[in-house]
Amino acid sequence: MRNCCLLLGALLAAGSLSLSTQEVPQTGDSCRDCHSILEDRLGEATQKFVDDIHSARGLSCAACHGGDPRQEEADKAMDRARGFLGTPSRAQIPPLCARCHADAAFMRAYNPSLRTDQLAQYWTSVHGRRLRQGDARVAVCTDCHSVHDIRPATSPLSSVHPLKIPATCGRCHADAGYMKPYKIPTDQLAAYQASVHFKTLEAGDLAAPTCATCHGNHGAAPPGVASVERVCGTCHVFQEQLFDLSPHKQPWESLGMPACSTCHSNHRIEATGDFLVGAGERAVCVICHTEGDGGWTTAQQMHTRLTELDAALTQATDLLGRAERAGMEVSEGRLIEAQAREKLIKARVDVHAVDTQRVEEGVQGGLKTTAEARSAAEEALAELAFRRKGLGLSLLAIGFVVFSLWLLIRHIEGGKNQSREAS
Ligand code: HEC
Ligand code: HEC
Ligand code: HEC
Ligand code: HEC
Ligand code: HEC
Ligand code: HEC
Ligand code: HEC
Ligand code: HEC
Ligand code: HEC
Repeated sequence: MRNCCLLLGALLAAGSLSLSTQEVPQTGDSCRDCHSILEDRLGEATQKFVDDIHSARGLSCAACHGGDPRQEEADKAMDRARGFLGTPSRAQIPPLCARCHADAAFMRAYNPSLRTDQLAQYWTSVHGRRLRQGDARVAVCTDCHSVHDIRPATSPLSSVHPLKIPATCGRCHADAGYMKPYKIPTDQLAAYQASVHFKTLEAGDLAAPTCATCHGNHGAAPPGVASVERVCGTCHVFQEQLFDLSPHKQPWESLGMPACSTCHSNHRIEATGDFLVGAGERAVCVICHTEGDGGWTTAQQMHTRLTELDAALTQATDLLGRAERAGMEVSEGRLIEAQAREKLIKARVDVHAVDTQRVEEGVQGGLKTTAEARSAAEEALAELAFRRKGLGLSLLAIGFVVFSLWLLIRHIEGGKNQSREAS
């Protein structure tokens, strides 16, 4: 009681609570009732909580904070003897959330498909490991999920919706001041935002990876992926298989070099093209290989052949376009052209085995199909020329007939005039 009076006295003096003018609503949940008329951080919780998933599932303040919501007086409701926890410290938050979220039997009653391994996973992450060592600056549950307006991950308004994740992680990881003690780079967000992955995501394709797709939501890496280095292969399956066949696999592994990000980087992954293979300015091969060595030669050969196929295909495409614009039927040619393009794409994927023979076979197949597409276009254009010639000849013939008729008419009319004059 003493606490309560002191408390209300202090609040009334501070002007943040005026019991004379405000009615305390009666919902049977004293925590919400009383906090809804408080100001600033004490009242904010209640306002936000309206849209919280826990509120939607009928859970209330006491589910996390403890205390007794049937008591109307502050000191009784928030009595530590009745299990009131107050504001949990950062280190207390993961075990607090996991009281329910790691309790499979409890969670099943609400949503049987929801995982219950978040805390177990969390302890394997750098965040969890450092928290256990006493560093409370790392991310805890509420840094990623927010406090009091927690939403299902599927909600576009959730802080862990794919489109929101980069900013959620970037709040700490892009803050050089905050991350200073750790001596790790803080360019991940900026680099990621310049990547094809982010551009694809922004365009609405949620199949593109965000921070948490590669790093895992809670654990050190996504489930089933041995390390973050190997995450690329979960989506780019063929590139990984071919890399594993390549002469890079063994030496890079023993040097501790990552498979994909050595050539593509990890965050600033850019759109690729034939410029990336070979000895040109933007080629990756020449970072390590020097003129004359096996890698250099292979790179050059692959570049030459891939660009040849690309150029041949561009020509065939142009010819088909010309025939099409002139009104010729080229659907068959377009079909063959699509097959040739598939072969070019596959030959580019084959680059990952860094095996000239493999790329060469693909390119030869592609060139053969391209030649077929080209002949389809050329046939259509020849047919067009033939039709034009035929049209020209018939126009000429028609013109000749018309002219002859005209001469004939003139001749007949001339004869009539002469006979009229004579009579
Ligand atoms: C009659 C009003 C009233 C009731 C009922 C009430 N509170 Fe409070 N609560 C307050 C006031 C005033 C404060 C700020 C003073 C303080 O920290 O003790 C506060 C503070 C808190 C804090 C922050 C504590 C801290 O140490 O930072 C939490 C969390 C909280 N209340 C939760 C609850 C919960 C959960 C319930 C219900 C079981 C509840 N409150 C019931 C008035 C109330
Ligand atoms: C899902 C669990 C959960 C529920 C439900 C919940 N809270 Fe909290 N609340 C927290 C956590 C965790 C913190 C600590 C946040 C932090 O340190 O960033 C907190 C902090 C607070 C604080 C202190 C805010 C501050 O800035 O110091 C108050 C007050 C509070 N909660 C009141 C409430 C009230 C009132 C309700 C019900 C309307 C409620 N909470 C429901 C988890 C919860
Ligand atoms: C009293 C038990 C309880 C506590 C404590 C609790 N939760 Fe929950 N949480 C639930 C229940 C029940 C659901 C609803 C599950 C459903 O119906 O989908 C839920 C849903 C969620 C969801 C949405 C899951 C989804 O994508 O569908 C998130 C995220 C979440 N809680 C995070 C937290 C965090 C963070 C904390 C700690 C601050 C916390 N919870 C504390 C019981 C609890
Ligand atoms: C580093 C950020 C981060 C932290 C810390 C974090 N989460 Fe999550 N959480 C996520 C992301 C991201 C998702 C998944 C969103 C999706 O599925 O697209 C998620 C999903 C969830 C879900 C939905 C079910 C699931 O597992 O996919 C629950 C429940 C949940 N988290 C609870 C927790 C709890 C409890 C903690 C603390 C022990 C916690 N989270 C800590 C980022 C985090
Ligand atoms: C509350 C701030 C905060 C948030 C939010 C946060 N982190 Fe962290 N993170 C840290 C801190 C601090 C470290 C510790 C750095 C260290 O020890 O190297 C860390 C470490 C990491 C590491 C390990 C870095 C290393 O040393 O190899 C990864 C990976 C990581 N975070 C990814 C994420 C992802 C992904 C998200 C979002 C889903 C996220 N973090 C959200 C603060 C945060
Ligand atoms: C396409 C996968 C992928 C995406 C998307 C991704 N990362 Fe990474 N990230 C990696 C890989 C691979 C590494 C290097 C291996 C490692 O350190 O575990 C890495 C390293 C890190 C590190 C360690 C420090 C460093 O820079 O080497 C942090 C922190 C980190 N990422 C945070 C983030 C954040 C924040 C985002 C989102 C803005 C993000 N990552 C997006 C794959 C990814
Ligand atoms: C969750 C699936 C997923 C993961 C994981 C993933 N990517 Fe991607 N990646 C995509 C999608 C989707 C695109 C854009 C569509 C496309 O071009 O295939 C893309 C595009 C690319 C491109 C550009 C392709 C082009 O056509 O120019 C490269 C290079 C790339 N990713 C490399 C990587 C690397 C390296 C990693 C690991 C560090 C990785 N990806 C992880 C899904 C993923
Ligand atoms: C030795 C350097 C190198 C390594 C290692 C490498 N790539 Fe590539 N990657 C390339 C080059 C060069 C291209 C462009 C090929 C072209 O367009 O001619 C490319 C293209 C791609 C593309 C675009 C589609 C395609 O295949 O042309 C994706 C996606 C891709 N790489 C993913 C990966 C993944 C995933 C890994 C790891 C398993 C990986 N890369 C490892 C050099 C590399
Ligand atoms: C990060 C350094 C690095 C990059 C980038 C790189 N390589 Fe290699 N490459 C190596 C190493 C190390 C070996 C194994 C040692 C050796 O045989 O020279 C190797 C071996 C090879 C070999 C087999 C060795 C031989 O003499 O026949 C070929 C072929 C090859 N690389 C082609 C390429 C091509 C093509 C690219 C670009 C797409 C490329 N490499 C990019 C480091 C690299």
